Amino acid sequence: MKSNLANIKKAIKLLKLGECIAIPTETVYGLAANAYSDKACKKIFKLKKRPKNNPLIVHYFDHKDLIKDCNFNNDFIKLYTNFCPGPITFILDLKKNSKISKVVTNKKKSLAVRFPKHPITRNLLKKVGFPLAAPSANLSSKVSAVCSSDVKEDFGKKIKFVLEGGKSSIGLESTIIDLRNKPKILRLGGLALPDIKKIINKKIIIENNPSKISSPGQFKFHYSPGIPIRLNSKPIKDQEAYLLIRKQKKMKKNYYFLSRNGDLKEAAKNLYSTLRKIKKDNYKSIAVEKIPNKGIGRAINDRLFRASNLNEN
Ligand code: TXA
Ligand code: MG
Repeated sequence: MKSNLANIKKAIKLLKLGECIAIPTETVYGLAANAYSDKACKKIFKLKKRPKNNPLIVHYFDHKDLIKDCNFNNDFIKLYTNFCPGPITFILDLKKNSKISKVVTNKKKSLAVRFPKHPITRNLLKKVGFPLAAPSANLSSKVSAVCSSDVKEDFGKKIKFVLEGGKSSIGLESTIIDLRNKPKILRLGGLALPDIKKIINKKIIIENNPSKISSPGQFKFHYSPGIPIRLNSKPIKDQEAYLLIRKQKKMKKNYYFLSRNGDLKEAAKNLYSTLRKIKKDNYKSIAVEKIPNKGIGRAINDRLFRASNLNEN
């Protein structure tokens, strides 16, 4: 296998040529392209079959690179200082003279920005010379990819290159917070709410309601493994997969566990890969045990709830 450095060089070469490649992050893998190039960003939408009205997150090495594109405010500075690089995405005002492609923002006046922590992608961002627009590297509305083989499973030969970075350590997408007015959570994710609350000492609105669409990608029917999911349930029969929060003493063939001892971070890390595995093992439906709704457990429940809405159709 090529060394990380050789792989990073290859990634930089392709990105400079206006190609779209997959990159590892600590949350999930991303499908990345030059955020300043219309042509490169259009490739992301085409490859992912993503509706054009769903804007992309732009990934930066640090705040010094961002100053050209967005206005900062105090809440941003506090959260950035405490949590970046890390699993949080900020919605900020886009500067008028920013070079960010209109394809990225769908001509919105705001921009979603993130500073990923994964060391390989940090190294890439430091060297590549432009920010990277990147949605999660999965087909639109499906389960996100947490390792390079997931990306290949979804895109096959259509993707030019997957930068190898091992399994994503968090395994759920970033928490999205809109900081343009009163702080508002648009998506629960890798950074838990109590951590954010500790830093910005004001009321935080949670607009995580699937029926509201200030973040278009928050529609229902997201994060679906492609088979029906029932929450807080037991399997009706052995042919149904049973997703457990912790390993049980007696594990039947159709039982899948997210963590050994009920650790929610471990469960988050394993969630998407376990859903993919259940599908591959050919189960036609999944019953999910009740999962504690605290810390990152809230984000796990949010994803499972959206995935379970497939039942309604
Ligand atoms: O962890 C993550 O956030 C991953 C990694 C690759 O960084 N990315 C990710 O991107 O989850 P994506 O595109 O799958 O989800 C981004 C969400 C979408 O729901 C999109 O609608 C929303 O962010 N979004 C992007 N720009 C926005 C904006 N200006 N205002 C409101 N929502 C925005
Ligand atoms: Mg996504």
